[in-house]
Order: sequence, then C-alpha cells, then structure tokens
Amino acid sequence: MRAISVRRGHPLLTTALKINPQSPIDHLLAMFADWGGLLQYYLAMGVDLSKLIERIPKAELHLHIEGTLEPELMLALAQRNQIELPYADVDEIRRAYEFSDLQSFLDIYYAGAAVLITEQDYYDLTWAYLERAASDNVRHVEIFFDPQTHTDRGISFATVIYGIYRALQDGETNLNITFRLIMCFLRHLSADDAMNTLEEALPHKSCIHAVGLDSSEVGHPPSKFVAVFDRAREEGFLTVAHAGEEGPPEYIWEALDLLKVERIDHGVRAIEDAKLVARLVDEKMPLTVCPLSNLKLRVFNTLEEHNLKELLDAGLCVTINSDDPAYFGGYIGENFRQSQRALGLSAEDIYLLAKNAFIASFISDGDKKRYIQELEMAMK
Ligand code: ADE
Ligand code: ZN
Repeated sequence: MRAISVRRGHPLLTTALKINPQSPIDHLLAMFADWGGLLQYYLAMGVDLSKLIERIPKAELHLHIEGTLEPELMLALAQRNQIELPYADVDEIRRAYEFSDLQSFLDIYYAGAAVLITEQDYYDLTWAYLERAASDNVRHVEIFFDPQTHTDRGISFATVIYGIYRALQDGETNLNITFRLIMCFLRHLSADDAMNTLEEALPHKSCIHAVGLDSSEVGHPPSKFVAVFDRAREEGFLTVAHAGEEGPPEYIWEALDLLKVERIDHGVRAIEDAKLVARLVDEKMPLTVCPLSNLKLRVFNTLEEHNLKELLDAGLCVTINSDDPAYFGGYIGENFRQSQRALGLSAEDIYLLAKNAFIASFISDGDKKRYIQELEMAMK
C-alpha cells in the first residue's frame, strides 16, 4: 500500500493520463502506467542494503554533541558531579523520551545537559560519540555545540571547548575521523546574548570553523540574528542555520538571504515552496536532513511519509544525519537503514546521500576527493 501513496497525485501521471489522484481506480491505472518505476521501487524495498550502508564511509554534518548524551553516561556524570536527576535509572530516562514536538524535546535535552560540568565530562561525552560514529564507519564529523547551554549555568567557555576539542583531536589521531566544530546560538535567547557568545568565542577562533542557529524555531526567525551572523562572517566563520524543521519556508529564505548560510539544517519544509526548491537546486545548497529526529519530533507521522526521497529526486543536495541520536533512537547508520527500508532507497540513492555529505562538508577539495574515492571503492 505504501507504493500507492508514493505515486498518488504524481503530477506527471495525473496530467498525462488525466486521472483523478483521489480515485482508487484511476490510481490503479496510474500504477500500471508507471509499472517500471513501481517495479524498481519494490525491488529497492526488497533488497537488503544494510551491508552496503554499514561499509560505506560516511560524513555526519548535523550532530549536536549534547544530543549524544546516552542515559548511562547521564547517570554516571550525575553521580560523579553529585547532581540529582529526576530519574531513578536508565529505563526511567528512556521512558521520558516521548516527545510531541521540538519544544517538548528541548526541555528534556537542556535539563539533561546539566550533568556536564568539567572539561573531562565534555571530553567523555565527545569521545563516546566518536567511538559510536567509528562503528558506523563515519570518517568525517562536523559537530554542533551550544555554549549558552553551559555558560548560562556558570561553566566557562574554555572548559566546554577544551573538552570537546581534545576528544576530537584524539578521534582524528586514534579513530581516523576528521572533524570541524560548529558553534550554535540558541535562537530562543536574545540577539545580544548571541553577540556576547560570539565575542567569548573569539579567543578560541582557531578551533571553531562555523557558526549555526538552533533551539526553538517558530517565533525566532533567522532575521533576529542578522547582526551576529554579519559579525561572525567578518571574523571568518562560515555560517549554517536550522530552518524549515518546524518553521515555514520563509525562514529558509531568510537563512539564505540574510544569514548567507552554506547549508540549511533540516530544511524539509522547503518542499512547500516550489520557487525555494528551484533555488536550492540551482545553488546546490545542501540540506542536512535528520529522518529519525523528524519522526520522533513528529515533523512526519511515519518514516514512510518522510520527504527525503522526494527532495533527493527533485535534485537537492540531501544528506542523512542523526541530530540528537541519544534522544531519537538511532545514530547515522540507523538513520540510513531505517530510511532505506521505509522509503525504498536504492543503492544509487545511498551512494548519492553519502557522496552529498562529503561534497557539502567544510573540508578541502583534496579531502573531499579522497573520501569520495573511498566511497566509490566501497560501492563495488
Ligand atoms: N537542538 C538540538 N536539536 C535540535 C533540533 N532538532 N532543532 C533545533 N534545535 C536543536
Ligand atoms: Zn539539529
């Protein structure tokens, strides 16, 4: 039945055959007319591509380090730092991860981050993620951190960044994972607060490659942060922004036009605006899509309804990422696997998604070429 909903109302079919997409009979007609495509779809659904997914080298471009805090580590750090948590054990923590939208997740996510106190805590958090990423054959990561989540609790900027950065350096040496660090501003806080955070970051500029924008989207458009992003670009930072996750397509336009971003984080609501889709295709603007996050936060009711494949087929530079894997039930490999199964992604789609991530990354052209060659070897 899934194939029917995929094909329903396909604009080419409806025009050519003059069918009514709401009518089951007409719809059956359309299915037979496009049986080649349908067959391909079913073939892809039936093929087990999990081995391919496992072995291909991957780049992860949308990953909040605070969102990798697994319940086991949360409990251990709470104990180490003598912090009381409102949960008795791991099961109770996991039971609390029942989200209805972005805000219901963020409330729990910020509360969980309160167990992070010392430089070693940030190191342990980052190292645990890197080990997990290595097991998914991740070869390059561009991770977000939210300094305000920590500095607002009295933790120094230096404590946070030294812990994260040292683990990333060790990951490059010992796990062969290259990295970039992206500092995000919390958009529910004021623009002045973001500007102060940017100033605090300047002494650590050599460790930070780009700035981003995250947290509660609706009501906090990119236009609120024009001055801070202008300043960040003057200081030499690249820019990215979460947009079109829960917020409207207008926020994506603003991120492009006002914040001059290099990538859109999420961006799935772009599909509602044909002109925007055309622009994103034209500019080869990458979207860092996070399927399991979108499912958990109810951006889509089921993974089968996710528009990732539609965006990919429209020619967009789509990538697959895990966002906050400890909270959303899957790291990057699991995001690939579940998306492949739910959407009937082909081996070619998997290749394209993995390649897009290297192309969209902030590494040198030489490194991109090297990773893509590695990917091509793994496809054989
Ligand atoms: N911070 C962590 N995860 C986020 C998400 N999915 N959207 C916005 N802000 C976030
Ligand atoms: Zn995110």
